[in-house]
Amino acid sequence: MPSPKAPQPPPSTLSTPELIPGLAGIPAAESSISFIDGQEGILAYRGHRIEVLAEHSTFEETTYLLWNACLPTQAELDAFKIELTAHYHLPDELLAALRALPAGGHPMAALQAMMPMLRMVSPVCNLKDPVSRHETSLRVLAAMPILIAAFERVRRGKEIIAPDPELSVAGNFLWCLNGEKPDAIEERILDCALVLHAEHTMNASTFACRVVASTETDAYTAVSGAVGTLFGPLHGGANERVLEQLEAIGGAENAQAWFQAQVAKKAKVMGMGHRVYKTKDPRARALQLLAKELFEARGTTELYATALELEKIAAEVFGARGIWPNVDFFSGIVYQKLGIPTDVFTPIFALARTAGWLAHWREQMRDNKLFRPGQIYTGVHDATWVPIEDR
Ligand code: ACO
Repeated sequence: MPSPKAPQPPPSTLSTPELIPGLAGIPAAESSISFIDGQEGILAYRGHRIEVLAEHSTFEETTYLLWNACLPTQAELDAFKIELTAHYHLPDELLAALRALPAGGHPMAALQAMMPMLRMVSPVCNLKDPVSRHETSLRVLAAMPILIAAFERVRRGKEIIAPDPELSVAGNFLWCLNGEKPDAIEERILDCALVLHAEHTMNASTFACRVVASTETDAYTAVSGAVGTLFGPLHGGANERVLEQLEAIGGAENAQAWFQAQVAKKAKVMGMGHRVYKTKDPRARALQLLAKELFEARGTTELYATALELEKIAAEVFGARGIWPNVDFFSGIVYQKLGIPTDVFTPIFALARTAGWLAHWREQMRDNKLFRPGQIYTGVHDATWVPIEDR
């Protein structure tokens, strides 16, 4: 039996670039889509501050802005809405595939699975043609709310509701989910939440979208990768966890003791902290205003009171460390008040972020370079092959 030579460490002559864990702060692309100042708590889409968009814009108008880099005229916006709603109707074979999904699966897994299915029933996208790219973007965005609502109904044994092209994206989602026309407050609050979640520079899911796009594949595949990436609890999945956390606290009076226990065991408080923001996330500020409006109009809930108390207590300890509420801290309690099931929160985030993902897919397609980063090899060199019978 050959005596194996001890594996050698990497040759010391090779220069080793410094590893930045999580690529924190490393630019992955040039982009004109959105901007964040994490110290000042600023987020802007195409130069427009998020607070202004939340107050004055709609999800459709914001999507137009993200995709076209300018605000539409009324005629352009009307035409855009007509283009989008023209794709509301989903082919029967796609809905048949949705009905066949396991009812016990998570709606995010269902949404991710439906993207390649949508691709299979759609015309081939010509990546070199801006008209074809636009058409594909509309198809993907239009399908999102309908697929999410349809899966939610099918898994509960209910009929799928046909979309209503007269309604906004937000209104149509609530209609397809509940089978009732939403009232003005519900529609406006969801619409505003969609605007707030639509885009956020080079976050994990957008990066994933751009990496997939860089292989010169279509929007269905790139968005499918992004949906899967958003699912994790350190990213979009945190909104579900926030609600579970608030329920576990069991009332504002328990918030102090619960928080101290988390700090003592160095456990994370979900819905707080952010890789980029070292002050309160501007989206959390805007969502808090929405929550206030909603709870004043519809009556408060214990979870909302618990969230306000937890925020106050955490600020005293975490504030100096730059850990503040992020977008997920208030979104879940708002969605719950709108009667949306907890595991549909992250799909709503995905629906909103699809506008941003597609803006990035389009930007990547315009000036593509395949992503192929390096690595720092930590394995052995010149390992000796030992026949299997001698190992
Ligand atoms: N609760 C308690 N401590 C925290 C929190 C938190 N929510 N966030 C960060 N910290 C602490 C960490 O424990 C760590 O402390 P240490 O230096 O003593 O070890 C330090 O702050 C740095 O934390 P990291 O997780 O390494 O920092 P990162 O930049 O990766 O954090 C992240 C970003 C992942 C979002 C983190 O804040 C977190 O896990 N938050 C909770 C989950 C959450 O709400 N995610 C949603 C983010 S928003 C979005 O994706 C839409």
